[in-house]
Amino acid sequence: MPVSSSDFNYIRELVLECSAIVLEEGKEYLVESRLGPIAKAEGFDTIDRLVEALRINSNNGLQSTVVEALTTNETSFFRDIHPFETLKDVVLPELLKNRNSTKELNIWCGASSSGQEPYTVAMLIQENFPILLDWKMNFIASDISEKMLDRCRSGLFSQLEVNRGLPASLLIKNFDRQGANWVIKKQFRDMIEFKYINLSRELPYLPKMDMVFMRNVLIYFDVEMKKKILKQVKSILQPDGYLFLGGAETTLNLDESYTRLGVKFSGCYRLIRG
Ligand SMILES: C[S@@+](CC[C@H](N)C(=O)[O-])C[C@H]1O[C@@H](n2cnc3c(N)ncnc32)[C@H](O)[C@@H]1O
Repeated sequence: MPVSSSDFNYIRELVLECSAIVLEEGKEYLVESRLGPIAKAEGFDTIDRLVEALRINSNNGLQSTVVEALTTNETSFFRDIHPFETLKDVVLPELLKNRNSTKELNIWCGASSSGQEPYTVAMLIQENFPILLDWKMNFIASDISEKMLDRCRSGLFSQLEVNRGLPASLLIKNFDRQGANWVIKKQFRDMIEFKYINLSRELPYLPKMDMVFMRNVLIYFDVEMKKKILKQVKSILQPDGYLFLGGAETTLNLDESYTRLGVKFSGCYRLIRG
């Protein structure tokens, strides 16, 4: 289903306003491939008709469906591996020491998509630092997509998804078969609170975080929005806490209060203490 240039512009504005995601010029194919099936499912012959309905009544569920459809939910278990090695070898050992008096640990995954990232962290903790399971842990995972949050809560993954990045030993140990799929054990699902948070808006109350994962989401925003989000993260990050970004993301030239741990520890940042 082709999209006209005025409808494309309308969708771009809508997505920007609702999620801060920037759909660049030339992304018509993305709008066509993602919104074609939605138009069909919602009973519209064309994307034009779908946009017409959005223009008439912008305050309905259709708007969120369209915005969600234009998010990119690409993720995998142990994505990029190195950040999780840093987590295991540097970050968690240090936090274990620094928080030993309070025995409290707060973690936030700010763009959890279908759940592979927060569940990777949860499995890594159980595997390497089981003592933390006796601590008071606030583990929050959030996303703008309710569809993705439902997936996270279900803990259900396809064979293809568990084949991507998840060691076979962890699959056997931590998942049960459910038909053609795999479901992660309840103890992991119970460890994490999944909730809707739109990063482009003011953050809701969150406890001071020891670790924030904000990976592979800043890339979709413009510079001002990246700055705003990094500033918000700073306000809820413990002075000795850690921020994880995606491989193509940085704080450089956006927020000078952060410093990268070192070339070896790509993707891991902390606040400069002054
Ligand atoms: C590419 S995935 C990244 C998943 C995971 N963090 C990783 O690195 O594998 C990006 C996620 O960001 C979410 N997202 C996009 N815009 C958002 C916003 N304004 N607020 C919260 N989440 C958003 C999308 O729904 C999507 O699930």
